Amino acid sequence: MTGAETVYETDALIGQDIEAYLEQHRHKTMLRFITCGSVDDGKSTLIGRLLYDSKMIFKDQLASLEADSRKMGTQGENIDFALLVDGLAAEREQGITIDVAYRFFATEERKFIVADTPGHEQYTRNMVTGASTADLAVILVDARQGILTQTRRHSYLVHLLGIRHIVLAVNKMDLVDYDQAVFDQIVTDYEAFATEIGIKDFTPIPISGLAGDNIASKSDATKWYTGTTLIQHLETVEVDANTAGEKPFRMPVQWVNRPNLDFRGFSGLISSGKIRTGDNVRIVPSGRNTTIKSIVTQDGTLSEAVAGQSVTLTFNDEIDCSRGDVVALAESPPASADRFEATLVWMSEHPMVPRRGYWLKIGTQTVSASVQPPKYQIGINTLEHLAAKTLDLNAIGVCTFSTDNPITFEPYASSKTLGGFVLIDKMSNNTVAAGMINFSLRRAHNIHWQAADVDREAHASLKDQQPKVLWFTGLSGSGKSTIANEVEKRLHAMGKHTFLLDGDNVRHGLNKDLGFTDTDRIENIRRIGEVAKLMTDAGLIVLTAFISPFRSERQMVREMMPDDEFVEIHIDTPLDVAEARDVKGLYKKAREGTLKNFTGIDSPYEAPEDPQIRIDTTTLPADEAAEKIISVIFDN
Ligand code: ADX
Repeated sequence: MTGAETVYETDALIGQDIEAYLEQHRHKTMLRFITCGSVDDGKSTLIGRLLYDSKMIFKDQLASLEADSRKMGTQGENIDFALLVDGLAAEREQGITIDVAYRFFATEERKFIVADTPGHEQYTRNMVTGASTADLAVILVDARQGILTQTRRHSYLVHLLGIRHIVLAVNKMDLVDYDQAVFDQIVTDYEAFATEIGIKDFTPIPISGLAGDNIASKSDATKWYTGTTLIQHLETVEVDANTAGEKPFRMPVQWVNRPNLDFRGFSGLISSGKIRTGDNVRIVPSGRNTTIKSIVTQDGTLSEAVAGQSVTLTFNDEIDCSRGDVVALAESPPASADRFEATLVWMSEHPMVPRRGYWLKIGTQTVSASVQPPKYQIGINTLEHLAAKTLDLNAIGVCTFSTDNPITFEPYASSKTLGGFVLIDKMSNNTVAAGMINFSLRRAHNIHWQAADVDREAHASLKDQQPKVLWFTGLSGSGKSTIANEVEKRLHAMGKHTFLLDGDNVRHGLNKDLGFTDTDRIENIRRIGEVAKLMTDAGLIVLTAFISPFRSERQMVREMMPDDEFVEIHIDTPLDVAEARDVKGLYKKAREGTLKNFTGIDSPYEAPEDPQIRIDTTTLPADEAAEKIISVIFDN
């Protein structure tokens, strides 16, 4: 889903004869899988063993391994297995920035891409990244350790991410004397947990990555084991991508292709189903129907295309369709909604901030979404539903979302493409969570926007003014209320219709239920934003004087308004100056520790980076500051 990704082409042939290489692999199916387990479960060794036993050494490493093995007196063909594993481990340690390394190998039967992710707890996000495209997961367990918390967490995630094929690889069997009782006990323990989380089926295999038991060939040391080897299993398991074609047709539109006036095509990757020329399709969310005129691909025009192909579709009608829309089979289109429930895996060191706006990316759509506090968090060992106010790094929880525009979606269980999403922090642009939509909350559909005949333009023109929000932000005691008051007096004298919303006053009425936690401050600003917007709809010039400490929420309010209506004014008073003034005696209390979460002391203030107006109150008295603001707003 995210992050730096590296693909290692591993076949020696690829360097020598690319045509022969491609021909050799063209007709093979591809299995994408992931290996997961705790730090010491032997993941590197296993992956090394798979590459080694399939006789595919990845190209980058080949030269240096050969050189090393020559030094050690071995021949190139007999590259020491331990060296290969060391190479893999060293590379991963160096590659701190590599979230997931994709390693490629092939056997006679099939091609494989294995997502190699670091096993450490803080790397859950990498595991999620690797798992999001995998058909199968190999869950590694150290035979001496049995099922650990990390085994449970990874199994839960793998199941959550919709991977249907699970291999329980009980590793290091050589260290427990290939004892069947040890293996059986681990399988029994795992089965109990798996059943509880809804994993219907898994394939247990006793292996030793180091010694090679039951990887490529059956081990004599485990005569009691009657199942297949790991490679045999990987070669024969059914690949999910092959069943995606049986679902109803969907294609999220990636871009509109318009090379000239005669051609208008809609390009994207078919996420499920089949499409033929002449088929009835519907564009969601607009709901317009049309039929397919042509299906154009890199290989020419086709009469039919299936899931996994990138195509450009043209329609028989001139209808609106743009990036983010979904072209779907007309009989069974996906739904669209702006409120839904989802399961979230939090992947950032910064905990979730309920009600904050994040970018939500789903398929080719990006919208602004705000998350409600979790309904519950899932206790990974006990599977209990725990009460939670937020989600921390690696936490899994169920939350309700609302988006500013409806999104076209399907439950994750039926479509990974239209049901899986990521949340992105609007300020840092980091991916902070992966989510899976469970269902939509229909309530949003029943509240329809009321179109009024006397609209905002009508209100504003009667007042003969352009509505605005003058948004004052700054520390407590910086002078926001004083200066805003001076500005309002002047506007009033100029005959303008104004209204001043002030933190101390609004917190006595509309927002008296809110305190000063981050979450409450966000809700405070959200409500003020909505009220200010209604007032601008009524044609007013609104002045707001709130600390409004977070950039994200000031940005959120800006986005609610038409362009140029929102004017951010930073009342820039250094903390020591505001503290020295201490008009309300609150800084003193905060320093003494009797007032918690005080802005600037033990709660952050994020100063605007580029406000329209910045007032330095250490050099400018309030009346001059007011004059400056008036002149900037009306003279420009
Ligand atoms: S905001 O952070 O949510 O924007 P707001 O402007 O509404 O804050 O309220 C700030 C006012 O509340 C301050 O001027 C101060 O008088 C009072 N106040 C009481 N407790 C706190 C606190 N912990 N942090 C900041 N201001 C507080």
